[in-house]
Amino acid sequence: MAKKAACVIGWPVEHSRSPLIHGYWIKEHGLDAEYRREPVRPEAFADFLSQLATQGYVGANVTVPHKEAALALSMPDERAMAVGAANTLWRDGGVLRSTNTDVEGFIANLDASAPGWDRRLRSALVLGAGGAARAVVFGLLGRGIERIVLANRTLDRAVSLQRQFGERVQPAPLSEANGRLAEAGLLVNTTSLGMSGQPALAIDVARLSANAVVVDLVYAPLKTALLKAARARGLRAVDGLGMLLHQAVGGFERWFGVRPQVTRALRTLVEADLIGP
Ligand code: ATR
Repeated sequence: MAKKAACVIGWPVEHSRSPLIHGYWIKEHGLDAEYRREPVRPEAFADFLSQLATQGYVGANVTVPHKEAALALSMPDERAMAVGAANTLWRDGGVLRSTNTDVEGFIANLDASAPGWDRRLRSALVLGAGGAARAVVFGLLGRGIERIVLANRTLDRAVSLQRQFGERVQPAPLSEANGRLAEAGLLVNTTSLGMSGQPALAIDVARLSANAVVVDLVYAPLKTALLKAARARGLRAVDGLGMLLHQAVGGFERWFGVRPQVTRALRTLVEADLIGP
C-alpha cells in the first residue's frame, strides 16, 4: 500500500507548526506516513484541492489565507459552517469533507488545562469577533454556557455574531470590556492584541472574580501580559499553545486512523520551537 500523506496548505506556510506536531505523532505511532508543507498561492488553491487525490494526499490542514475558500470548495460539517472557515480536510470516498477543529481544540484544551472550568460558569466574556471568536463562541454554546458577552472594537461584527448564534451572545464595544469583567467566570482573548508587534490589551484582571479562568489564544509570546497578570493574581490562566496542539488531533485521527494524545513531551517540543534558539 502507498505511503499515506497529508499536508498543510498555506501562503506563506513556512511558519506553520503543523509539520512538527504531526511529524511527532507519525513517529510516535510508528506509521508509514508523511506530513508536508505545501505553499500554494490563492489563485492556485482550487486547482491544488482538485488534485489532492492524484498527489497522494488523504487530507490536509488549511491555513491563512485559504480557510474560507476551503469551506466553499468542500463538504463542510456544522462546525466549519458555524466558524465560516475550514482548517481540516479529508477524503471520504469521492467526497472532500471539511471541519474546523478550532472548536474542539479550544474546549479540549480548557478541559485539560483548567478541569472543571465550566462548573457553575454562567457568563463568559470573549474579546474579538473574527474567525477565532466564532470557534470559541460555538464551543461555549455547545457546552451550555448561558451567556457570552462578546466585546469587539468594531461593534457591528459582534452584533453579526449575535445574529448568527442567538440571544445568548451579547455584543459590546471593546471599550466596555473592563466594565464586564466582574460578571465573567471565563475571559477569552481572541484578538491579536498582546501578540508580538501588536498593541497591548488593556484589561484589568483585578476586576475578575477570584475563581475566574483566563484564556489567551495568542501564543507568540507564550506568556502574554494578560496571562502573566492573571497568574500574578492567582487565577487559572490557559495559553494559546494548548489549543494549537489540541486542534491538530482531529485531522490526524481522520487521516491516519489513530487518535493521538497531546502530551507534555509534545508541548515541550513545540514550545522550544516557538521560543527558538
Ligand atoms: P481571527 O480569524 O484570527 O479571529 P480576524 O478575523 O482578523 O482574525 O479578527 C481579529 C480580531 O482582533 C478582531 O476582533 C479585531 O477587531 P475588529 O473586528 O474591530 O477588527 C481584533 N483586533 C485586531 N487588531 C485590533 C486592535 N488594534 N484593537 C482592537 N481589536 C483588534
